[in-house]
Amino acid sequence: MIPQCGKLAANANVAVVGAGVGGLSFAYFLSKLRPDVNVTVVEASKRQGGWINSSKIEDKPGHAVVIEKGPRTLRGVAPGTTLIIDTLKALNQESAVFYIESQSEANRKFLLAPNDQLVQVPNSLRTFYKFISGPLGKGFGSGLLGEAFRKGPVNKISDESAHNFISRRFGNEYVSNNIFSALFHGIYAGDIKKISAKKTLGTMVELEQKQGSLIRGMIKKYMSKSDGVSEPQLPDSLKEYGNLMGRDMPDLMKLHSTLKKLPMLGLQNGLETFPESLAIALGQMSNVKILSGDASSRLSMSDGSKAEIHLESGRKLANFDHIRLTNTPGVISKMIQNKDLIRQLQKVHSNTVVLVNFYLAGEDLVDTYHSFGYLVPQSNRNEERLLGVIFDSVIEQNFKPFVKSGVPHAAVRQKGKYTKLTAMLEGHYLNEEGLAGLKEDSFYVGSVKRALSRHMGIPEEALNRGIWQVTPAKECLPQFFVGYDDWLAQLSKRFVENYGSHVSLGGMAFGKGPGVPDVVMDGFEDAAKLA
Ligand SMILES: Cc1cc2nc3c(=O)[nH]c(=O)nc-3n(C[C@H](O)[C@H](O)[C@H](O)COP(=O)(O)OP(=O)(O)OC[C@H]3O[C@@H](n4cnc5c(N)ncnc54)[C@H](O)[C@@H]3O)c2cc1C
Ligand SMILES: *[C@@H]1O[C@H](CO)[C@@H](O)[C@H](O)[C@H]1NC(C)=O
Repeated sequence: MIPQCGKLAANANVAVVGAGVGGLSFAYFLSKLRPDVNVTVVEASKRQGGWINSSKIEDKPGHAVVIEKGPRTLRGVAPGTTLIIDTLKALNQESAVFYIESQSEANRKFLLAPNDQLVQVPNSLRTFYKFISGPLGKGFGSGLLGEAFRKGPVNKISDESAHNFISRRFGNEYVSNNIFSALFHGIYAGDIKKISAKKTLGTMVELEQKQGSLIRGMIKKYMSKSDGVSEPQLPDSLKEYGNLMGRDMPDLMKLHSTLKKLPMLGLQNGLETFPESLAIALGQMSNVKILSGDASSRLSMSDGSKAEIHLESGRKLANFDHIRLTNTPGVISKMIQNKDLIRQLQKVHSNTVVLVNFYLAGEDLVDTYHSFGYLVPQSNRNEERLLGVIFDSVIEQNFKPFVKSGVPHAAVRQKGKYTKLTAMLEGHYLNEEGLAGLKEDSFYVGSVKRALSRHMGIPEEALNRGIWQVTPAKECLPQFFVGYDDWLAQLSKRFVENYGSHVSLGGMAFGKGPGVPDVVMDGFEDAAKLA
């Protein structure tokens, strides 16, 4: 998000705070577009990549297994994914790209029913009938049938919770509690009753506003599409990217149409291959510096025209024309002095997720449930505070190389049978106690073992034989509360009042959405505005 923006002067100095994928992509695109600009990236930790964390474990001496402690897949439909894959192509890393096709078993998903059984999310007529007659189907069929006839709100509302919106459209609360709340666990580790409908279900909210109903809106959209044979189009953001970065437009168009149809993509050696490639490319640019292992503790302005960064080590970096912040609002609030801005930023809470990785060689413990994994809706009793489980081994085994000449499939999976899972816990369930409520690693391993045996009948004895790792991702996911868009507009105004065009905001809290493709696209768009 760029509050107010002019182009950077020749040989300008720019600082980027945070070397997560958001900061690295902003730095990369800016230095490509403006080789005259000096870019300094400031990163608190010794490593780069932020929440993207593909770490290696050894299950036996000399045999490394990659486990993801953060994001692992990219959604094909997001325009930012086209940007990422095309950038990897420009960096000669296209052969590291793998994909899942829509018919793949790895594209099936399960939800946990209140009776602790896994129910498949419908992907065919047969599974649809099974779903609506099952324990999670209550109110879904009738909700869908009546949707076209349900009136919108009597008084226009500027925003409401996603739970409210879904419940109004379906005419009952079951659909939100049993189905949608699980998605909000999976994406935001959040409580659907507290999250903004406008920010997270924007296209649906717009359909209701414009057409009165989602179903009617979708039918209308479908009809208008099938009318004329419309040429496939690149979204404006990608057009701009192709033009400014001098990419081959027909190739980019082709890449985008291909990716759009793919449910997900992944990378050899894990998603960290992307930020790593960016960091290597940045390291080779003479006008870019990456300073790792020293946090930014305070921002200041000198004589109103140049910005400064004070580092934890006591060092001061000065003379910046622009500073790009890519941290969560809570972290940014600690770097500034203006009380009003601090109060505004503190309104956004970022939820904590505990990631529990499991690896077992030689056995496939999820063979009856081959899929992407399962999510837990709020209607489940959920004593373990489990948000969902991802079946990494199933995803890897179904990966296909994106380019024919790419590295062989064997490069993204282990030989033979094995089980690799990631469970995610806590999220909004931890909010009452806060970080003080975090338990020891062994507690979470115990919770996941219990949950997996109850939900899928996996014997605890088999789970005891695998490797377990626990990583608490503290305050990682900013929560989009009801009224978020208005808050963001206000905040942006206040940043301009305080810093003019000298500060811009990137990363999960300030972009189109919380996903990797969203923050990368944002990094590009804002770099383009400044360049
Ligand atoms: C558990 C989990 C799973 C996810 N799964 C997916 C997924 O499968 N697919 C997907 O698309 N997205 C996923 N996401 C979202 C994805 O992780 C984010 O979109 C992305 O990592 C955001 O990158 P960023 O650079 O904006 O922020 P971050 O990764 O948070 O980077 C910010 C950087 O700033 C640094 N920093 C912090 N404070 C300071 C300071 N004071 N000074 C200097 N540096 C500082 C941090 O060390 C960090 O490196 C997931 C997120 C989580 C938490
Ligand atoms: C990344 O993984 C390492 C080791 O596997 C762990 O120590 C570290 O805390 C993780 N970092 C983040 C940001 O998740």
